Amino acid sequence: MLKKSIESALNKQLNAELYSSYLYLSMSAFFETIPLKGFARWLRLQAAEEQEHGMKFYDYIIEAGGTVTLAQIAAPKSAWKSAKEVFDEVYAHEQKVTGLINNIMDLAVAEKDYATQQFLSWFVTEQVEEEANASDICAQIRMTEGAPGQLFAVNRELGMRE
Ligand code: FEO
Repeated sequence: MLKKSIESALNKQLNAELYSSYLYLSMSAFFETIPLKGFARWLRLQAAEEQEHGMKFYDYIIEAGGTVTLAQIAAPKSAWKSAKEVFDEVYAHEQKVTGLINNIMDLAVAEKDYATQQFLSWFVTEQVEEEANASDICAQIRMTEGAPGQLFAVNRELGMRE
């Protein structure tokens, strides 16, 4: 049985993962309009991945005997000035999510909830990858400064994401 404090933190993170999905879908839609379809594809797939992250919390809460409580998902912004601005925000957002996961881990340790610590360890590892991916794309975009045509090469590469 989940402690109420843990259940509440897991439900909040379920919401945060769904918000991440919503944010990346909004970014994807922005790239569709520019149009940089490769960026759009990468973010659309990322949005689907965030949905899966949310469902991992959903399933765990139920399996651990807790109650899923769905809250309102905030509306993300819908316009950005550049690809660089979008991916700087993706990277900052992933760093924020890492902090949220770490906070729940701190709580699970304080509450001696070993099962939740085990569950969260997957996300601790995942966040290393999520930050690295976002940081790499930020670096690739920075390299196109002064040679905007190169952005199409980055766009082509991102569009190959499976
Ligand atoms: Fe679910 Fe991108 O962290």
